[in-house]
Amino acid sequence: MNAHVLLLPGDGIGPEVIAQADKLLGALQAQNIIPPIDISHALIGGAAIDADNTPLPDKTITAALAADGVLLGAVGAPKYDSLPSDKKPEKGLLLLRKSMGVFANLRPAICHAELAGASSLRRELVEGLDILIVRELIGGIYFGEPRGRQDNDGIRAAANTMRYDENEITRVAHAAFAAAQRRHKKLCSVDKANVLEVSILWREIVSAIGKEYPDVELSHMYVDNAAMQLVRAPKQFDVILTGNLFGDILSDAAAMLTGSIGMLPSASLNDQGRGLYEPVHGSAPDIAGKNIANPLAAILSVEMMLRYSLNLPQAADCIASAVGQTLSSGKRTADIAQAGDSICGCEEMGQAVIDNLVALQ
Ligand code: IPM
Ligand code: MG
Repeated sequence: MNAHVLLLPGDGIGPEVIAQADKLLGALQAQNIIPPIDISHALIGGAAIDADNTPLPDKTITAALAADGVLLGAVGAPKYDSLPSDKKPEKGLLLLRKSMGVFANLRPAICHAELAGASSLRRELVEGLDILIVRELIGGIYFGEPRGRQDNDGIRAAANTMRYDENEITRVAHAAFAAAQRRHKKLCSVDKANVLEVSILWREIVSAIGKEYPDVELSHMYVDNAAMQLVRAPKQFDVILTGNLFGDILSDAAAMLTGSIGMLPSASLNDQGRGLYEPVHGSAPDIAGKNIANPLAAILSVEMMLRYSLNLPQAADCIASAVGQTLSSGKRTADIAQAGDSICGCEEMGQAVIDNLVALQ
């Protein structure tokens, strides 16, 4: 039976970058680098609101639960900003993550040598950077109850709850320790245990699980310090494990170290290895539809999907090499260009990766 991949282009630059990922999947099959796969499309986010009046139609959930891998572009656009929060495009993404049970969000931040000059930090601080942020994705303050707004005698108030139980911490901690074992065997767990009870529990559980991984060097860091260390000396990190909100923030900061958020893929995995793959960047409405977005985060998300959900590590390696080759050859979308570079569009970048993939065979 063919593996089944579901594409969810979404909004903004999502459709443009997913089109390049789709083209790449076609080329991989045409070159017999991967066996035939079945590819289908569904709606999410603003695109689904326009068509079905909901950011996550039931048929999208059903298709996602049946797929071996789901590749999402991005969700969100200014025209939906005034909708109530449970009708917004972002809600579709959060519900999809929750429905698929993808609790472990792996966000690698790798600085390709060719792009070290595009980072906002000095070259020597970022060149060779290779860190992995493991972000808990379906718990914490994003989902905790109670939540919502109140009106106390005319005074408006709102609240959210940062809550984790030990099972939620345990499963993502195992995912992070296992990832550290495959890498440089260093894990830094990031929390706010000097202030928050939820972080004290987080630290207790992670420390206890650490005893099962004696080969991994475990450290703990407060999130404010982690933010500072990421921009002071990012190469001190190997794997960072953290909760949903802290991971959201730290992964954007880590993205900038690599030159551009347009380079960063992510994998969100459940306990059956099924996954949701998305670029870390958002829908970027300001540049949507102009063929200037960087498709490499989407393309590298395909790489992660082949590796983690479709069990095709050699094909994943081919994509990584082709991306490396494309950067070495000087191709640059606007986000990763430096003064004097000639700039290519989204389609041209996608095609260049395919051409290099073919040439490498
Ligand atoms: C991300 C995004 C999402 C998040 C938004 C779009 C809901 O910022 O994937 O990092 O906060 O998780
Ligand atoms: Mg984010």
